[in-house]
Amino acid sequence: MPESANQPIVRALNIHKKYKDVVALDGIEIEIMPSEFTALLGPNGAGKTTLVEIIEGIQLPDSGEITLFGKHWIGNKDELYRQIGLSFQETRFEDKLTVAETLKLFASFFRLNNARVDEILNIVNLEEKRKAYVMNLSGGQRQKLALGIALLNEPKLLILDEPTTGLDPTARREIWAILHSLKKKQGTAMILTSHYMEEAENLCDKIIIIDKGKVLAKGTLKELIADSKTSEIIQFKVNDRSLFPDFSSFNDLREINWDDSTNLVTMNVDNTSAFLPELIAKLNNAGCKISELRCRYVTLDDLFIRMTGRKLTD
Ligand SMILES: Nc1ncnc2c1ncn2[C@@H]1O[C@H](COP(=O)(O)OP(=O)(O)OP(=O)(O)O)[C@@H](O)[C@H]1O
Ligand SMILES: [Mg+2]
Repeated sequence: MPESANQPIVRALNIHKKYKDVVALDGIEIEIMPSEFTALLGPNGAGKTTLVEIIEGIQLPDSGEITLFGKHWIGNKDELYRQIGLSFQETRFEDKLTVAETLKLFASFFRLNNARVDEILNIVNLEEKRKAYVMNLSGGQRQKLALGIALLNEPKLLILDEPTTGLDPTARREIWAILHSLKKKQGTAMILTSHYMEEAENLCDKIIIIDKGKVLAKGTLKELIADSKTSEIIQFKVNDRSLFPDFSSFNDLREINWDDSTNLVTMNVDNTSAFLPELIAKLNNAGCKISELRCRYVTLDDLFIRMTGRKLTD
């Protein structure tokens, strides 16, 4: 298949993978378009690393088909590796090399010169650390170095396995900023795995939620939320549950869920601004006191809980 702007640059068809009796991937189908940032979001053990390693040609699926830029891995390894940039969930560096020496080593694999190393130090904001030994880097700096290595060959496709897991919020935002500016400048496509819904929401055009080796949902954030039953949520705590009135005749109210341990009520509603005054009036009439009232938009976490009964980060 020829490469073009309308063709997916990654196509995974009906991918299955088992490790002994563990089903890691169970019929995964995904497509990634050029310049598109996609988050693979799922809890521990969902199958994210297995899937990206299959896309990266590091593992073979038991069945199914993978193409990158319209080509299979078999027979095209050298060409495909020139077009992709990878960072792994855990990267082991040579601790006794400096940051610049590490980048030069990887640059030599692609026959790139020192000017490219300087550019990368600038892109990932590690210029001040160019002479630092890798073993003395912080977690965030190591991740930036891993990202720098992935970017050396100006890849058309970047695949990052949990690039910000374990980082503090400042380091995480710094990585996001690097990826945002990359998106603006280079038109690189990216697949990023994560447990963090904010990461997917903040960085990615498309979100693919996976759990137990299956795709549960995919689309833009807007599409995922539009597909959910309701997009608006009202939450509050009730002081005395015996006074809580009956809302069964309220059409705008789709669902009520109680957290019994805290008496926290979560209402999924169609139209908060219309519903809220009626809600307050009815509670007042019943003498039912509430606290900690808040209204918010549905999040990916709400959707994940609805789909699986669990939180993403459990
Ligand atoms: N080499 C292996 N041998 C046996 N089982 C494996 C192996 N690699 C992964 N698994 C199992 O396959 C399933 C999917 O694992 P995978 O590493 O792909 O998940 P993940 O979504 O990347 O998880 P995490 O968020 O913890 O990185 C898990 O149940 C895991 O225990
Ligand atoms: Mg993983």
